[in-house]
Amino acid sequence: MPKVLISRHLGADAMALIAENTFQIVIWPEDRTADRAWLLENASGCQGILVTLNDKVDEELLSKAGPSLKAVSTMSVGYEHVRIQELASRSIKLGYTPDVLTDAVADVAIMLALMAARNAAYGLSIVQSGGWPNVGWAPFGFCGPQLGPGPTTKSFTAGFLGFGRISQATLRRLIPFGVTHAVYTDSGRGRRTEDEDTAFVEQYAAFGQLKQLKWVSLDELAAESDVVFLLAPGGESTRHIISTPFLQKMKKTAILVNPGRGTLVDSDALADALDKGWLYAAGLDVIEGEPNVTTEHPLVKSPRATVLPHIGSATTETRAAMADLAARNLVAGVLGEPLPVEYMM
Ligand code: DGY
Repeated sequence: MPKVLISRHLGADAMALIAENTFQIVIWPEDRTADRAWLLENASGCQGILVTLNDKVDEELLSKAGPSLKAVSTMSVGYEHVRIQELASRSIKLGYTPDVLTDAVADVAIMLALMAARNAAYGLSIVQSGGWPNVGWAPFGFCGPQLGPGPTTKSFTAGFLGFGRISQATLRRLIPFGVTHAVYTDSGRGRRTEDEDTAFVEQYAAFGQLKQLKWVSLDELAAESDVVFLLAPGGESTRHIISTPFLQKMKKTAILVNPGRGTLVDSDALADALDKGWLYAAGLDVIEGEPNVTTEHPLVKSPRATVLPHIGSATTETRAAMADLAARNLVAGVLGEPLPVEYMM
C-alpha cells in the first residue's frame, strides 16, 4: 500500500479525497506546523508528500523519503521552500496551487497599498486605544498619498517586480483607481513581448486611463513607480533584491507593497529607509524569517509599515480550493497519473 506523508490537516473535504484511495496515510496530528524531526522520522518509504509553505523540501527530507518518492504536493503557489533542482535530479514531480488564489492575493495587495498609504493601521491603533477624542479631525490628520492620480496630478504609475498572474490581477484592480502607467521588471520565468503589453492596455482601455504598460530595469522601477508591488517567486537569486540601492531611488511619496515573499526585501534596509523618509510607507503580508516576527522586529516597530501575518490567500473559498488541488495533485502523483497542476521544472 503506497504511503503518503501529510504535514497538515487540510480540512474534511480534501482529506476525504485522499482517504478514498488505499493509501497508508501518515498525518501530522497537531494544528500547527509539523515538527521537522517528525517529518524526517516519518518520510521513509513515502510515495507522496504533501506540505505547506512552512515545510522545507530539501535534500535531507528527500533522502529520508528515499527512491520510492514520486511526487511532492505543496498547498501554495510559491515554491521557495522546495529545492526544485533536488526534485528534478530525482525525477520527482511537484504539484502546486496557482490560479485559485490569484484573486484573493490581488485583493490583499490592493488592501495593503491602501492601508499603508492611508495610515490605516495607525488610525486603528488610535481608535482602539481610545485616542480619537484627543486627535479629533484635523485638516491634514492621518493624510498620506492617494492611490491614483488624485485631484491635482495627471499621472500615476504602478510598478511590479514580477508580472505574472497575481500582478496582472492587481493591475486590473488598479485601473479604476486611475492608474495611467504600469511598469514591471520580470524576475520570474520568461519575458513578455511588447505586443502582449500593448494588448493588455487595449483590453482594459475602456475601464480607466491606463496608457502604457512596459518592461523597465530595476532602477527604473524604483524611480518611476508611485506604488511598487513585489510579486516575484523568491529564492536565492532574488534575495534582498529590495535593499538600500533600490529604496534610495524610490519617490518619497511612494508605497512599497510585498504580498510575495519576505526574502525579496532586506528588512533592516527597509526599516531604515522608512525612518529616513526615502519612501512614504510599506504594506507587508510577508517578512523574511516569518512567522518568527515579534514586536521587536524593526518593521513591526516602524510607524510607516503595515504588517499582516501572510493572509494573502486567506479566504475560505480560496483555501478550500488550494486544499482540494493539493490533495488531487498528491493522489495523481502517487497513482502515476498526470498531476492536475504540475510545476514544470
Ligand atoms: C502561496 O500560496 O504561496 C501564498 O503565499 C499563500 O498565501
